[in-house]
Amino acid sequence: MVIRKISAGMCLMLVLLGPTWADGAEKPQQDQPARIPENTIDPAVWGKAYPSQYNLWKQTEEPTPAGKSKYKVGFDADNITYDKLSMYPYMALLFNGWGFGVEYNEPRGHAYMIKDQLEIDAKRVGAGGVCLTCKSPYAPGLEKSMGQDYYMKPFRDVVNQIPQENRELGVACIDCHNSKDMSLQLSRGFTLVEALEAMKVKTEELTKQQMRSAVCAQCHVTYNIPKNAEGKSKGVYFPWQKSTWGNITVEDIIQQIRNDPEVGEWKQSVTGFKMAFMRHPEFELYSNQSTHWLAGAACADCHMPATKVDGQTVSDHRVMSPLKADLQACSQCHDEDTEFLKQRVISIQDHTVSLMLRAGYATATVAKLFETAHNAQAKGTVLDKEFYEQAKDFYLEAFYRQLFIGAENSVGFHNPPEAMRVLGDAVAFAGKAEGLLRQLLVQADVTVPMDIDLELAKYVEQRGEKKLVGRPEQEIKDPFGLQERFLPKQKK
Ligand code: HEC
Ligand code: HEC
Ligand code: HEC
Ligand code: HEC
Repeated sequence: MVIRKISAGMCLMLVLLGPTWADGAEKPQQDQPARIPENTIDPAVWGKAYPSQYNLWKQTEEPTPAGKSKYKVGFDADNITYDKLSMYPYMALLFNGWGFGVEYNEPRGHAYMIKDQLEIDAKRVGAGGVCLTCKSPYAPGLEKSMGQDYYMKPFRDVVNQIPQENRELGVACIDCHNSKDMSLQLSRGFTLVEALEAMKVKTEELTKQQMRSAVCAQCHVTYNIPKNAEGKSKGVYFPWQKSTWGNITVEDIIQQIRNDPEVGEWKQSVTGFKMAFMRHPEFELYSNQSTHWLAGAACADCHMPATKVDGQTVSDHRVMSPLKADLQACSQCHDEDTEFLKQRVISIQDHTVSLMLRAGYATATVAKLFETAHNAQAKGTVLDKEFYEQAKDFYLEAFYRQLFIGAENSVGFHNPPEAMRVLGDAVAFAGKAEGLLRQLLVQADVTVPMDIDLELAKYVEQRGEKKLVGRPEQEIKDPFGLQERFLPKQKK
C-alpha cells in the first residue's frame, strides 16, 4: 500500500507538520460554539447551532446507496434489509432457541436503531429495558433514575418512560458530544467507562484521536447481560476484564463469559446447552493490533471523513459504510484509486466469508452430532463422560469463535489476519469436537452417517414469526450465492 498522507494524531510527523487532509478538504471547522442548554437531548435544538452536522446526521434515515457494497447491502434503495440467517443458514441452526434465531438482520442507518427494535427485531428485546442501552440517548438517564428496574422491566415499559416524541430517537448528539464546547465525550458511564476502568484505562487520559474511536465503542462492542436466579436481567457489561487496551482478544472474552454463570442468556435448542452470546465486536476486532489501528486510524477516519457542505468542511455525520461513500475516506491516506481499494476490501471480505462458512458449517455439524448423542442418551445409551465433556468444551470454543467473526460487521476488513486466525481456530476446534463425538457414538454402538443432515431448511424457514422488510422469497434463497460459490459440495 502506498501511503501518501498521514492523518491527525498519527505520529511524529504530526508534531512537526501538523495534520494534513485530503485534496481540497481542510480540517473540519467548528462553527462558533453555540449555547446549547446542558442535558439537551433533542438533536433539533443542537441542529439550530450546527445545521450541517444535523442535516448529515438526519440523512441516516435515508436508504444507503445501492450497488456499492458487496456484503453490506443493508437497507438499500430497493427497501431490502438482508436477513443474516438466510445469507448464512448455519446461523439459523446455531441460534435456534431464542430471538437471534428468528430475526437477525444486517444493520442499517443510525436513525433506525429503536424503530428496528420495535418493528423488525422485536423478537430480540426479551431481555427488557436493558436493550435500550446502546440504542437510546435516554438510556444513561433511565439507568440512573430507575435503577434495577431499568434492566429487568419489559422493554416497552421502559420505552414508555421516554417522552413520546423521542421514543424512536436513536444515537443523538449528546451521546458523543459535550454541549458546552462540542468536545467528544462518553455518555455511557455504566458500560464503556466501567469496562475501560476494568482494563485500567483512565478515560480522561484518552487522546483526541482515541476518543474518535471510543465514542463508537460505547455501542459497537460485544456485551453480556447477567441474569438473576429468576432469569431476569440485572445488569450489562463488556467482557473485557482479562484484556488490555489495544489487545482485547477473543480468547479473553471467551474465558470471561464461559466462567460467568450469570451470563448464560439462552438455551441452544439443537444441543440444549445454556450459552452466553456475543454481539457486534467492531471495536474489539479493530483495536486488537490491526494494521489501521497501529497506523493511528480511528473509526471516525473511515466512517466520518471530512466532507464539504455549502463550502464548509465538516465531519460526515451520515455514518455508513465507506464503500457506499465511494471510499472518499481512504484517500485521506491512500494514493491508490478507489476502484483498486474497493477490490481490496471485497477480496478481504470474500476470504473471510469463505472461512466463516467453513467454520460455521463445521460448528453446526457438531451441534447436530450432539443432538444425535442426546437422542441416544434419551433412549438409554450410556456415553463416556470424559469424552463427552471434552467434546463439549471444544464445541463451545468453536461456537464462540465463529460467532465473534460472524457478528462483527466489517466481514473481516477491520482486521483481516485476526479474523482469519480466529476462524481457523474455530474450524480446528470443531474438527476436534466432531472426531471425539464420532468416536464416542461408535463406541456406544450408535451409527453416524458420513454426511450429517443439517436440516437447514427447517431452521431457516420454520423459525417462527418474523417481520422481514423486503421480499421474503429472495431472502430465503442464498441471496448472494455464497454457499454455492464457497461450499459447492456442502450438504445444505
Ligand atoms: C448509541 C449507540 C451507538 C453509537 C454511539 C454508535 N453507533 Fe453505529 N450503530 C448503532 C446501532 C444500534 C446500529 C444499527 C442500527 C439498525 O440497524 O437499526 C448502528 C449502525 C452503524 C453502521 C451501519 C450503518 C448502515 O448504513 O447500515 C455504521 C457504519 C456505524 N454504526 C458506525 C458507527 C461509528 C463509526 C460510530 C462512532 C463515530 C458509531 N457507529 C456510534 C449504535 C451506535
Ligand atoms: C456517534 C457519535 C456522534 C454523534 C451522534 C454526533 N457526532 Fe458530532 N462529531 C463526532 C465526531 C467523532 C466528530 C469529530 C470530532 C473530532 O475530530 O474532534 C464530530 C464533530 C462534530 C462537530 C465539530 C465540527 C466537525 O464537523 O468536525 C460538530 C459541530 C458536531 N460534531 C455536531 C454534531 C451534532 C449537531 C450532532 C447531532 C445532530 C452530532 N454532532 C452527533 C461524533 C458524533
Ligand atoms: C480503515 C478504515 C476503517 C476503520 C478505521 C474502521 N472501519 Fe468500519 N468498516 C470499514 C469498511 C471498509 C467496512 C466494510 C463496509 C462494507 O462492506 O460495505 C466497514 C464496516 C463497518 C460496519 C458495518 C457497516 C454496514 O454498512 O453494515 C460498522 C458498523 C463499522 N464498520 C464500524 C466501525 C467501528 C465502530 C470502527 C472503530 C472501532 C470502525 N468501523 C473502524 C472501514 C473502517
Ligand atoms: C489514517 C490513515 C488511513 C486511512 C484513513 C485508511 N488507511 Fe488503509 N492503511 C493505512 C496504513 C498506514 C496502512 C499500512 C501501510 C501499508 O500497508 O503499506 C494501510 C493498509 C491498508 C491495506 C492493506 C493492509 C490490510 O489491512 O489488508 C488496505 C487493503 C487498506 N489500507 C485499505 C483501506 C481502505 C479501503 C480505507 C478506507 C475505507 C483505508 N485503508 C483508510 C492508513 C490508512
